[in-house]
Amino acid sequence: METKPIGIFDSGVGGLTVAKAIAEALPNEQIIYFGDTAHLPYGDKSKESVRVYSKRITGFLLAKGCKAIVIACNTASAHAYSDLKKFYPKVPIINVVNPTVNYCCEKFDSGKIGVIATKGTIKSRIYPRKIVKKNPNLEVPQAAAPLLVPMIEEGFFNNNISQTIINSYLSTKNFKNIRALILGCTHYPLIKEEVKNYFNGDVDVIDSASVVAEFTKKLLKKEGLLSTKKKAPNLFYISDYTESFEETSKLFFGEKIDLREERIWD
Ligand code: DGL
Repeated sequence: METKPIGIFDSGVGGLTVAKAIAEALPNEQIIYFGDTAHLPYGDKSKESVRVYSKRITGFLLAKGCKAIVIACNTASAHAYSDLKKFYPKVPIINVVNPTVNYCCEKFDSGKIGVIATKGTIKSRIYPRKIVKKNPNLEVPQAAAPLLVPMIEEGFFNNNISQTIINSYLSTKNFKNIRALILGCTHYPLIKEEVKNYFNGDVDVIDSASVVAEFTKKLLKKEGLLSTKKKAPNLFYISDYTESFEETSKLFFGEKIDLREERIWD
């Protein structure tokens, strides 16, 4: 019987939104999570650095016996996915971008699909490149929204401040008449309702956490890697521990979790 854990990593605790969605979709799976809080944020780092970090973290998760790796971070998905696939060709590696691209291309055959994300993800143009390659009738305007990560981590959402910041990013004329908006960052599921309200419910707001959870389920099933019984509790590691990460992790996972420090960079 397959009982090995799924490894999930992110630059910090924001990827817990993806871990949460996977835990809900796959209750029989043990999750081992790694948040690289020592190097947070990845959104402003060079792609070379993000590649080095991602490779080392994947090595750590595989050494813990993980059967598959989910790159929960959009920035790491944009910069490091191809490298990781090459480096670990036998391991199923899932990123957050491809399932979201496929989902959009199945749902929309023409029109505009907007993207908001970190500076790194936007600069990589990963979403427009992949979506337009699949369907040249789709247009993909994008906007970097760097203030949203610290804003959400500080607990500013569903209030006047978050509304003002969200409005200022979404009011760009590029997003006029979009049919859908991809929330291309681990943190944004927490502001999904506010974003929907900004568009008066007229725009399909796509949160990659739930799309990726469904994709992970399908892939593990296809590979014969689904667990039928959870073997051990989930484990959550971070590379630099502070109480403030402990607090923030509750926001993203929706419940208190025990964070263990693992200083893999020492
Ligand atoms: N996890 C990152 C992402 O999804 C956001 C936070 C960061 O910049 O590290 O792109």
